[in-house]
Amino acid sequence: MQRVLSGVRPTGGIHLGNYLGAIRNWVAMQHQAQESLFCIVDMHALTTLEGTDDLAENTYTIAAAYLAAGIDPAKASIFAQSHVPAHTELAWLFSCLTPLGWLNRMTQFKEKAGKHKEMACLGLYAYPVLMAADILLYKATHVPVGEDQKQHLELARDIAGAFNRRFGEGLLPIPEPMILGAATRVMSLRDGSSKMSKSDISEYSRIELMDSADTIALKIRKAKTDMEPLPEKFSDLEGRPEAQNLVNIFATLAEITPDAVCQQFVGSNFAPFKQQLADLMVATIVPIGEQMRQYLADKATLHATLQAGARRANELAHLHMNDIRRAIGMIQ
Ligand code: TYM
Repeated sequence: MQRVLSGVRPTGGIHLGNYLGAIRNWVAMQHQAQESLFCIVDMHALTTLEGTDDLAENTYTIAAAYLAAGIDPAKASIFAQSHVPAHTELAWLFSCLTPLGWLNRMTQFKEKAGKHKEMACLGLYAYPVLMAADILLYKATHVPVGEDQKQHLELARDIAGAFNRRFGEGLLPIPEPMILGAATRVMSLRDGSSKMSKSDISEYSRIELMDSADTIALKIRKAKTDMEPLPEKFSDLEGRPEAQNLVNIFATLAEITPDAVCQQFVGSNFAPFKQQLADLMVATIVPIGEQMRQYLADKATLHATLQAGARRANELAHLHMNDIRRAIGMIQ
């Protein structure tokens, strides 16, 4: 039985990294799995949000992106995390069996808290425990994510193991991370050593799913590269992170291997490669952006999709929380 769960934080624009690293893989998986749940993790967004003004709009935007990318609400539940209160209930139960030592190892907390660790909020520190609850609440077996979520997934597996050892073997499945394809870590277009992210101050560092064709072409033209021609094999791009990144993106969009991309452009400089990359990207991303705009113009329908998704998610959550409370020994 394959049960798939994943999510995106509604903290602003949604970009090519989110799409190639995660959502695109969900679209294929929804057809194979018995149950698929795709969450918009608004409670997670609160850990870094300064104002909450845009939270609802951002949540709708992510829902629109899921739909536009090809998630079918007849096959998968699309819902907002805050519409299923059991996420936070289970997070509390897990927080009572998660050693602080495990959380102290989390690199994302260190990155996001920066120098002012003492000022960071408890929610940011506890973030991975809530993420484990998102997954295990539905007894999810497969979690398709980008590479940056690997450490969080390992923690979710450790928490599931600790829970089972304490309250009964086999109660929670150990979830499998699914880190798929050649674009598991899409890098910034301005700096091949840092990840493409929503929080980068430079808009030229990322392609947003609602960017126009002109903007995409411009961002690709301006993307940082080097002076060397493209080699015959991907492995010969060692030490050229910007080129590696663009070749991986090309390969994923064209559904060919990175080696095949190199063979196609061997000996050439980046100009013709970038031209084709921009064309490929426009052909994939622009229709998604256009559909997102259409979904966003009809909030009532989007809202109804989120409600239907939350209904199914709450049903499953209710069943599983009963098992969990019983196992812990709480009065039913
Ligand atoms: P978030 O919102 O940062 O990103 C959503 C998904 O996009 C992937 N991703 C990337 N993949 C490749 N290259 C990139 N540059 C890139 N940037 C982002 C992420 O790996 C992720 O799969 N903690 C999660 C959200 C979350 C979650 C969950 C995920 C909360 N609960 C339960 C799975 C299961 C996050 O912050 O993702």
